[in-house]
Amino acid sequence: MVDEINEEGPVIETKARKKGSFVGLQRELGLISGISLIVGTMIGSGIFASPRYVMEHSGSVGLTLIVWSLCGVLAMLGALCYAELGTMIPLCGADYVYMLQAFGPLPAFLYSWTTVIVIQPSQFAIICLTFGAYLIEPIFPGCGDREDLQPVVKLLAALAIGVIMFVNAASVKWAARMQIVFTVCKMVAIIMLIITGLVRLGQGFTASFENSFNNTTKSIGLVGYAFYNGLWAYDGWSNLNYATEELKNPYRNLPLSIMIGIPLVTVCYVLVNIAYFAVLTPAEVMTTSAVAVTLADRLYGVMAWVIPIFVASSTFGAANGSAFSGGRLVFSAAREGHLPKFLAMIHTKRHTPLPAMLFTSIIAWIMLLPNSSSFETLINYFSFAAWVFYGCTVCALLWLRYKKPEMKRPYKVALPIPILVVLASIYLIVAPFYEAPLESFLCLLFILAGIPFYLVFVYFKIVPQSFSDFLARLTFKLQKIFDVAFPEREDQ
Ligand code: ARG
Repeated sequence: MVDEINEEGPVIETKARKKGSFVGLQRELGLISGISLIVGTMIGSGIFASPRYVMEHSGSVGLTLIVWSLCGVLAMLGALCYAELGTMIPLCGADYVYMLQAFGPLPAFLYSWTTVIVIQPSQFAIICLTFGAYLIEPIFPGCGDREDLQPVVKLLAALAIGVIMFVNAASVKWAARMQIVFTVCKMVAIIMLIITGLVRLGQGFTASFENSFNNTTKSIGLVGYAFYNGLWAYDGWSNLNYATEELKNPYRNLPLSIMIGIPLVTVCYVLVNIAYFAVLTPAEVMTTSAVAVTLADRLYGVMAWVIPIFVASSTFGAANGSAFSGGRLVFSAAREGHLPKFLAMIHTKRHTPLPAMLFTSIIAWIMLLPNSSSFETLINYFSFAAWVFYGCTVCALLWLRYKKPEMKRPYKVALPIPILVVLASIYLIVAPFYEAPLESFLCLLFILAGIPFYLVFVYFKIVPQSFSDFLARLTFKLQKIFDVAFPEREDQ
């Protein structure tokens, strides 16, 4: 798949590049874009919407802060493993290509099947829902929990999905620039909250931290859910791996972006949580889904409206980052023939995976429709599926160390780290089974339901003629309407 390697990373379509008329993804992202992609995707809805659930499930302030810190450690360890994989197999598509190399097409197919249909669109939908809720917060205070305003929130979410899709389809540069702008916005919000917290602590408001382990939960399953909500806020730590083909000098920039980005986010998250508790009581944190707004209302007076606006831009940036990587996963799975081929087309002038972007957005829109599509239910489904595959991908790292020790590994992680990450993901998969066996079971069932699809469409290729004709017509139509084409490869 990789034709040659130079210090800029692998060259995939060499002849086409030389011709100058190259249609394909280009290396346009530097270190700053890399860090922004990680930080900008990680900080999104979670730090403003999850604290309630982390507190509720862990029962005490002490355990809440421990959970938030451990989530950061786990994200860091996981990302270091991904840095090894990403520099060893520097192709876009991340987990998908690693699993393909290590375990072959079926597990890779199940990954892309689950991710493309459930994980990515549900992420996109959850974040945009939070966006909608916070955006109308200044107009309808306390609306986050009001049933009657849900249609408005969902409409705003749908609008956000549309705008993000449009920008990502229009230009990689614009998507990356937007990412930088929103990353700055959310850092402002985070820093405001942190300073507020430190000032309050300095003034002696430490009541929440007394007897901080009272009421700690004893249920292993509930701690698992506390982690699910915390880890949602950290999710996105593997995001840059989706864009290694577009990263300048990936061997340096991938690990460096990870090592700068993730500790930065962890410190911020722990400090922001301390700020919440320095202003609000644990009981208040537990009952508000818009904790940052409650804090602002308490302290910022007439300026309280700035917080929901910053939170809205923070979620918008995270949605942009998620869409960016989501589109690239669909693209790379389609390129391997695991999804209809037309999804691997690229805009001839703008070099963006336009059909893939469109596809992700349409499923995200559909996810907004059911009445039950709330923040927490979507997160439980999302996290279970996500950690099944994070675990599998890190197993792929261990397996490749054993099976292909000769492969070049420009960045190599210490062996205990992947082992620890695998153990942590086993815990995260098994623990919630105690609390909600049905949800986890359904999720597992969905993953396995990919097997018959794989056999019919990919392995035996017993696709009805009428369906192939339909796809061929669709491909042709897309090429005409959207000016897209299949990327050129070495053999063309
Ligand atoms: N951590 C983000 C948030 O708090 C969600 C990131 C979704 N994950 C992803 N890979 N894009 O909203």
